[in-house]
Amino acid sequence: MHKICVIEGDGIGKEVVPATIKILEELPVDFEFIYAEAGDEVYKKTGVALPEETIEKALESEAVLFGAAGETAADVIVKLRHILDTYANVRPVKSYKGVKCLRDDIDYVIVRENTEGLYKGIEAVIDEGITTATRVITEKASERIFRFAFELARERKKEGKEGKVTCAHKANVLKVTDGLFKNVFYKVAKEYEDIKAEDYYIDAMNMYIITKPQTFDVVVTSNLFGDILSDGAAGTVGGLGLAPSANIGDEHGLFEPVHGSAPDIAGKGIANPTATILSAVLMLKYLGEYEAAKMVERALEEVLALGLTTPDLGGNLKTFEMAEEIIKRLKHD
Ligand code: NAI
Ligand code: MG
Repeated sequence: MHKICVIEGDGIGKEVVPATIKILEELPVDFEFIYAEAGDEVYKKTGVALPEETIEKALESEAVLFGAAGETAADVIVKLRHILDTYANVRPVKSYKGVKCLRDDIDYVIVRENTEGLYKGIEAVIDEGITTATRVITEKASERIFRFAFELARERKKEGKEGKVTCAHKANVLKVTDGLFKNVFYKVAKEYEDIKAEDYYIDAMNMYIITKPQTFDVVVTSNLFGDILSDGAAGTVGGLGLAPSANIGDEHGLFEPVHGSAPDIAGKGIANPTATILSAVLMLKYLGEYEAAKMVERALEEVLALGLTTPDLGGNLKTFEMAEEIIKRLKHD
């Protein structure tokens, strides 16, 4: 029995999460879903965006499935990632048939350090009109994220992938912080002789995800660079409606679509559930339910290829109808 904390949140979170749960309920896997509140709505009711009760439920569960928050997103999701100490932000970038992508052979994963860098939030006003921000890069957090990336590359190699980790940094300019980052990368790389290691400057990397995305396997980078790079990467494989993410730590896993609450389409029942369904696929793998993960991904692939999608991908189905089409196609090997 897997105990899953489910936080729908705001806006389309209330549509894409229930559609995903419907699919999970059809799998040969035992779940206990524990519902919890967070976001703008609960903030309006109680004055708190992330209630204590929700934090407790998240901490007690094996994994958290999160939809989206609205304006309170920073107080909810950033805080939750911190509380659960999920240091690795994992974002697969994959082209699916039937979806307009830059190429049809893109399949890599961006691993972003989730706890430090410029997002540590150490900012100050030095004088009127003069501000500063501190970029924190530690050997400990860098080592941890690189090990995670190399382990992931090893797992992917078992599935037939190349077995390569690409580190993106800016060590030529940020000589101290990214100097350390790059050195630690090659130190950790030595422990993984079966996996190739390469590095690029982040600006060049930003071009390469457009000009040669098919050459990447696992890409690892620091917090801010990863945030920017991964949204760009999502744009090469169909955009926000399709981009899933996992936040992984040693004790907890938090799975969420990259998109927000989409107030412009909320309540219309037309939100694309794919990003949340793919986040659930990542969750199933995290839970060790590999067969179920494959079942869902294959059924989703079929549905996308047939164009049985929501309007953002050119189809004419509602969120729940798309989920139903996936359920019809769930099958074992
Ligand atoms: P957004 O991701 O909510 O929407 C951007 C655009 O993409 C909109 O046009 C929306 O309709 C479309 N879109 C997003 N997801 C879609 C889906 N599943 N299917 C079809 N179309 C989809 O980002 P935006 O508009 O910048 O922010 C809206 C709210 O969401 C804000 O209050 C923001 O703070 C919050 N937000 C929350 C996040 C989170 O909870 N992790 C992340 C990003 C934004
Ligand atoms: Mg972002």
